[in-house]
Amino acid sequence: MDRPPGSYEVITRETIDEVKSRIDIVDVIGDFVTLKRSGQNYKALSPFTNEKTASFYVVPSKGIFKDFSSGKGGDGITFVMEHEGMSYVEVIRYMAKKYGVEVKEEAISEDQHVQESDRDSLYIVMNYAKEHYKDLLNNSEEGKSIGLSYFRERGFNDRTIEKFELGYSLNEWDSFCKKALRAGYSDEMLEKAGLIIKKDPGKMYDRFRGRVIFPVHNLAGKVIAFGARILTKEKDQPKYINSPETEIYRKGHVLYGMFQAKNAIRREDFCYLVEGYTDVISLHLADVDNVVSSSGTALTDEQIKLLRRFTENITVLFDGDAAGIKAALRGIDLVLKGGLNVRIVLLPDAEDPDSFSRKRGSAEFRQYLKDHTQDFISFKIDLYAKDASHDPIKKAEAIRDIVTSISLIPDPIKRSVYIQETGQLLKMPESVLVTELNKIVISERRKKEQDRSREESRAPSVTIEDIEPVTKTDMASIVQRQERESMRLLLNYAESHYDDQRLVDFMLTELDDVEFTNPVYREIHQRFREGAQVGTVVDTFYFMEHGSDAVKQEVADLTTSRYEASKHWSEKYHIHFPNEKDLLHDLAYTNVLRLKFRLIQKLTEDNLQQMKQAANEDDLEKYFTIHEQLKGAEKDLASLLGIVVPK
Ligand code: UTP
Ligand code: MN
Repeated sequence: MDRPPGSYEVITRETIDEVKSRIDIVDVIGDFVTLKRSGQNYKALSPFTNEKTASFYVVPSKGIFKDFSSGKGGDGITFVMEHEGMSYVEVIRYMAKKYGVEVKEEAISEDQHVQESDRDSLYIVMNYAKEHYKDLLNNSEEGKSIGLSYFRERGFNDRTIEKFELGYSLNEWDSFCKKALRAGYSDEMLEKAGLIIKKDPGKMYDRFRGRVIFPVHNLAGKVIAFGARILTKEKDQPKYINSPETEIYRKGHVLYGMFQAKNAIRREDFCYLVEGYTDVISLHLADVDNVVSSSGTALTDEQIKLLRRFTENITVLFDGDAAGIKAALRGIDLVLKGGLNVRIVLLPDAEDPDSFSRKRGSAEFRQYLKDHTQDFISFKIDLYAKDASHDPIKKAEAIRDIVTSISLIPDPIKRSVYIQETGQLLKMPESVLVTELNKIVISERRKKEQDRSREESRAPSVTIEDIEPVTKTDMASIVQRQERESMRLLLNYAESHYDDQRLVDFMLTELDDVEFTNPVYREIHQRFREGAQVGTVVDTFYFMEHGSDAVKQEVADLTTSRYEASKHWSEKYHIHFPNEKDLLHDLAYTNVLRLKFRLIQKLTEDNLQQMKQAANEDDLEKYFTIHEQLKGAEKDLASLLGIVVPK
């Protein structure tokens, strides 16, 4: 399947059309995301963000997906491009393979060819290397006698060796490098892929030498990195050498074994998390396929996000020795923090999955896993059990430790369930535990607030001028800030003229279709409207006589307090506060735009909430349409305001 470099072939239009006609969007996205049926459509948690309620939709009738949480959307091809970080060409090839379409290619000019991205080439060269190492394992004398016999000793069978595409690298300085160069791969590309190391100019050697090779696959099954294990006991040699990060490999975003495990994880709705490459394979040998490894490092947020796409339930499986327990404890807290449910299996002291399953056999190993899976609370209680029953200090320590873990769980309902369980297991009143929990939660929150305020005091003071993407919770208050500014302008400058018109006339015309969210501002707005209709001047005195208490209070504030944005304006235009009047044209114009911009954003948020609760397909269609319209309006306003809205 390798395309020799230097060929200038592209996929024909016909092939692309053929592939496109075969695409079933549900099937395509279903390979990466667990979709739940919802009427004619499908819903899921966004694979692009960390959301808690589903706002990722697939609409098969239209062949599209829309992810309201990240804003991404498009057809099956765009999805795979976004999700897998593939180029268009890669996706077409991937789809062609998936649907059994023959890929036809035609010659193109060199200019066009050069545009092919580095990523494409990296996948190709990694695939070439993988085939090379596989071939050596199975067909070379050294590979067979050293690599293959090592795997055999560990009980790896042919099926598993093939499933994980294991390989072997010769114990020579540059045999891979030479072969790849001869095959036409450039030394730049080989170095970029992390396969060779360049010393002095012209001198280069293979990164992986005399080791068995574990390829790391992405979710689509492409090789993006290698781990290479030494077989001899040489000093000064690391046990594993891993690929460096490259354009196609970000270590913290990948879990070893995910490609081979994803279907089983979905089926079982939980996933074992183990320490290393060989543990993953040992479990497969025992017919436990729902297993991944973070490859010897602490789980990252990205890895948790990846797991969450397939299941919410993680079972941490570690060796029973001190190091294993320590790693398990660290794993528990990280998983809890990521909002996933965590259980634990510890193997007997000094065993790892490999040794254990070989000693006892697969059936007994599976049974052991079943029987010894504990939730994290009883696991922690057991850890302290030996001393805790006699020693009150130890017991207090145990409680604090458990409650600290519980405090990491984002969901308060889950927290209280675990508190209940802890109370029962430790035979102590829940109230004591709740008090302890609250202490921790509050002190954590304080810490966070302190960090935040420290950050804010560093940042320049916020003024109404600042237009930036905001989070949902801020939206309502941001809209109100804009509303307040409209009111301030109206109240202070209603009768001022600029460009031959009164500010109040301009504002009222522009705000005619605007319904203020704040009731006080709604009332003020209404008074101005009435005044304009009957020709009375509406000013501070008018409100002091006619307004409700809340209105009077607000009007007083707005007409006496210093203009909060004046500093910003004075810096921007080198004009001082008393001259704000000179800027009325700009002020009124941008204020109106900003207010509308914010209102549209708020409506979009509200519409999204509605959409999440949409009962049927018709409703969903309706919200879709509204969403598109609002987004269009937002974009128009943004371009008038000269800001870029994130998609
Ligand atoms: P282990 O030493 O337990 O390796 O490290 P293993 O893969 O389980 O192999 P066996 O059982 O000894 O044959 C666990 C993981 O830590 C990372 C690897 O990802 C390994 O799988 N590691 C370990 C390294 O990256 N480099 C090292 O030198 C050692
Ligand atoms: Mn190990």
